[in-house]
Amino acid sequence: MAGVTDDEAEGVTRRTVGDAETRRASRRWWDRDADDYQDEHGAFLGDVDFVWCPERLREADARLLGDPAGQRVLELGCGAASAARWLATQQARPVALDLSAGMLRHAARAAETTGVRVPLVQADALALPFADGAFDIVCTAFGAVPFVADSAAVMREVYRVLRPGGLWAFSVTHPMRWIFLDDPGEGGLKAVHSYFDRRPYVEQDADGVPTYVEQHRTLGDRIRELVGAGFRLRDLVEPEWPEGHEQLWGQWSPLRGRIFPGTAIFISDKPLVEGE
Ligand SMILES: C[S@@+](CC[C@H](N)C(=O)[O-])C[C@H]1O[C@@H](n2cnc3c(N)ncnc32)[C@H](O)[C@@H]1O
Repeated sequence: MAGVTDDEAEGVTRRTVGDAETRRASRRWWDRDADDYQDEHGAFLGDVDFVWCPERLREADARLLGDPAGQRVLELGCGAASAARWLATQQARPVALDLSAGMLRHAARAAETTGVRVPLVQADALALPFADGAFDIVCTAFGAVPFVADSAAVMREVYRVLRPGGLWAFSVTHPMRWIFLDDPGEGGLKAVHSYFDRRPYVEQDADGVPTYVEQHRTLGDRIRELVGAGFRLRDLVEPEWPEGHEQLWGQWSPLRGRIFPGTAIFISDKPLVEGE
């Protein structure tokens, strides 16, 4: 789960970046960041747990996926795959997929330490190496979707690998967070950007080569991408900051979380009959 940082920072800009360049940046970024990400967030995410967001909404409590027992589940952008391992303990049949070998190394290590093993696949969410209708559920907590230039194409690809009646649930940074600086404190309470500026947040090196790219879509954009792919939107969950939860995650903080949402979770399904 990343976020939008201060536009004044060196090497930071907002500009359009294509799919190939975005993929290169993401792969390199997540490979290099994998150890730090796990050091910083691994304990919060747990070894065998499905945490949807920094607000600490857990699938064990929220049950956004229904009963996963017996279901073929694909976790996209799995990182260390703690969610897929939790799903395995719920008698689901998960597969965990990520673009980054560095992140998948943590998943492989955690399989050894926990003894909960799930198949791991290195692939791009834009080109899923699975047959049509291979899964009953596809899900992700902040994986892949914010890190591809063409997220509408991810929606179509997920639609393809789901069986009719299958469920697609993903969490992303709440679009309205893009109005603010990436600051968990008072500085993050003042609107400074246009909600309608769809240019991605880009960090780049001295040669202008992108090293980190994160995409913004408005709520309407996300819904149009889902509906355009053929999905029916079932719910849009905006987890509230729980009482007593004081842990920060980047720009997510109790201060901001009590005032406005930090995460949006889209729950949709593929109709039983196409175009229904
Ligand atoms: C913010 S991390 C989330 C990881 C995990 N789901 C979690 O909750 O901690 C984003 C993940 O998306 C993966 N990712 C980025 N672009 C991707 C793509 N095009 N296809 C598949 N995974 C991708 C990254 O490698 C990274 O592991």
